[in-house]
Amino acid sequence: MKTTLEIAEKQLKKNGYLAINVPEGINLEHEINTLRKEKNAIILAHYYQESAIQDIADFVGDSLALAQKAAKTNADIIVFAGVHFMAETAKILNPTKKVLLPDLYAGCSLADSCPPAEFANFKKKYPNHIVVSYVNTSAEIKALTDIVCTSSNAEKIINSIPKEQPIIFAPDKNLGNWLIKKTGRNMVLWDGACMVHEAFSIDKILKLYADNPDAEIIAHPESQSHLLKVAKYVGSTAGLLNYAKTSKAQKFIVATEVGILHKMKQEVPHKTLIPAPVEDDSCNCSECFYMKMNTMQKLYNCLKYELPEVQVAADLSEKALVSIEKMLELSK
Ligand code: 13P
Ligand code: SF4
Repeated sequence: MKTTLEIAEKQLKKNGYLAINVPEGINLEHEINTLRKEKNAIILAHYYQESAIQDIADFVGDSLALAQKAAKTNADIIVFAGVHFMAETAKILNPTKKVLLPDLYAGCSLADSCPPAEFANFKKKYPNHIVVSYVNTSAEIKALTDIVCTSSNAEKIINSIPKEQPIIFAPDKNLGNWLIKKTGRNMVLWDGACMVHEAFSIDKILKLYADNPDAEIIAHPESQSHLLKVAKYVGSTAGLLNYAKTSKAQKFIVATEVGILHKMKQEVPHKTLIPAPVEDDSCNCSECFYMKMNTMQKLYNCLKYELPEVQVAADLSEKALVSIEKMLELSK
């Protein structure tokens, strides 16, 4: 007879998550709370996760805050409700801890746009350049990187590099172009992008703005330059939240993944928040399919069975750690 673990491992190979049915009538919130206490686990969630996951998490943040939290935690198990590169970064920072991702196939179009072998060849063309990579990359890319950055600290990190030092910036060309404008540095850019932030329709956004002239357009720097040009504020998810709180404006057109609106509504319940529309007529906001692969059921199963676990080979982990630690040091 097969053990539960053997069944689980077979399912994981097939689905990337445990497809074990959650018992009927179960109170998921209660069970998740009990399991996390029993196992000394911490649940870290990104702002793009579904609302119920954000509400049950121990900590919700942007990619920088989540990496910082992962670097400091005393928990035995880290459940990362986000996408693979985030959980992988947490594992690199905590090689002896168990790091779980509710759905192992929760990937990232931006990370996928930078395959390691191609990037290694690209890097060879610019031997005198320092490599700054966005955290939305695989461990292999981080191992080829000098300093990792996130959208929260990218400008500070670029400015910390001596002016005469040439830079390769990867993988997001939109963030890269925005940084070139902000810092005046002439960086070599990798040609990658996030499908969620490239989906916005500038025409529809401008029409929406014409209908709501009292609104402010706020955008994530992974968005295209024509959108960033018309935005009143450009920043990371945490930056956008903070701006919505501190700006005098009462209405915002929010150009990032729609999950952020959950926290924003909690933080500024009296303000009007309009998700920026996309080209595709089937929906009026931009959703990250990968982020939404995690569900409360998968979160419960993952805590209960302590699977799927994110693993990073020790030699790769050691190499990637150097560029992540540089970022954390420069972000203090
Ligand atoms: P931040 O959380 O750094 O704003 O990044 C957004 C993102 O695309 C995460 O995948
Ligand atoms: Fe990746 Fe874009 Fe999804 Fe962020 S929103 S996880 S960058 S695909």
